[in-house]
Amino acid sequence: MSFRFVTQPEIRREARRILPLEVWNFGDGASETELTKKRNRQALDRLAIRQDILVDAREIDTATTLCGVPLSWPVVIAPMGGLVLFHEEGDVEMGRGAERADTLQFLSGATGWPVETVAAASKGPKMFQLYHFGDRAWVAELLARVEASGYLSVCLTVDTQVYSRRERDVLARWSPREAMKKAPNPRGPAPDYPTRLTWSDVEWLQKTTRLPVGLKGVMTATDAKRAVDMGVRIVWVSNHGGRQLDSTQASIDALPAIADAVGDRADIIIDGGFSRGTAVLKGIAWGARADEHQASDVGLRVPRRLELSEIRDEVRRCPPAWGAARRADTAGCP
Ligand SMILES: Cc1cc2nc3c(=O)[nH]c(=O)nc-3n(C[C@H](O)[C@H](O)[C@H](O)COP(=O)(O)O)c2cc1C
Repeated sequence: MSFRFVTQPEIRREARRILPLEVWNFGDGASETELTKKRNRQALDRLAIRQDILVDAREIDTATTLCGVPLSWPVVIAPMGGLVLFHEEGDVEMGRGAERADTLQFLSGATGWPVETVAAASKGPKMFQLYHFGDRAWVAELLARVEASGYLSVCLTVDTQVYSRRERDVLARWSPREAMKKAPNPRGPAPDYPTRLTWSDVEWLQKTTRLPVGLKGVMTATDAKRAVDMGVRIVWVSNHGGRQLDSTQASIDALPAIADAVGDRADIIIDGGFSRGTAVLKGIAWGARADEHQASDVGLRVPRRLELSEIRDEVRRCPPAWGAARRADTAGCP
């Protein structure tokens, strides 16, 4: 099979060329000074993989599971709202890309398509990310549709009670929410992010859905422990890629303490700056079960499969690291 693009930088360059500047900035930008986003990346870069030699590399097993769902490799597609800005078939096309890349799609609660449409358009496994864009009755009705459509878990995003100040958008006097209105499925009746969310909403969610519940946006061991004590099944270590609270800790730096607090009581996903196979391995060595990859900064007109297959290739080309994918064996350089 020959691909038009074979490296990530050229895909980014092409996306930058074909996307309107505002859309590029929405995908690539973060909140305020973008310090959190930078920290995510710097903290990953600081970690070094110990190079063991002469590790038998004939069989590399990259398989894992997420809430019991088998994955052939430990990368899933993160939820991204506003995909209509990148491609006219947005989340639907992303689902097709996930299927071709043999991975799982998290559908954003800010999707521009009905959950049924996305579910029906591709065969790969899917999970749902929840925002409360309505009262509890509205959310309950949505969850029933999510269950009926075959999604395999629900992750509540817990770091977005107030939408952040994305300064690239502010500077451009551009509103992503307005631009997203061209999507076929409008947001719920209360399109603002709900300030009212508390831990009682997690309990309510567990009572309201039969699906395993996860929390996306956990950054402290204390919160992680509270979540697993309540029976939360996915702890998603994330600072929203720096798109919400500026100046937080890097997500990879938050991971070890969270992994200790969670133990084997829940599955851990991490995101934030993971754009290379070696970064995925660092995440796993430090305690995560899967790393999320957001492909939004690459215009979706570029077939998703290319970029993901490249990362998959990178993951498989690190036998020493797979041999040593335990935290104790991976050196952290200060
Ligand atoms: C364009 C875009 C839209 C996003 N929309 C959502 C969303 O609707 N819900 C959500 O929980 N996270 C959303 N995120 C955050 C991602 O799920 C993920 O946490 C973040 O991109 C991870 O950081 P990274 O891109 O550095 O890996 C979005 C990210 C991007 C880039």
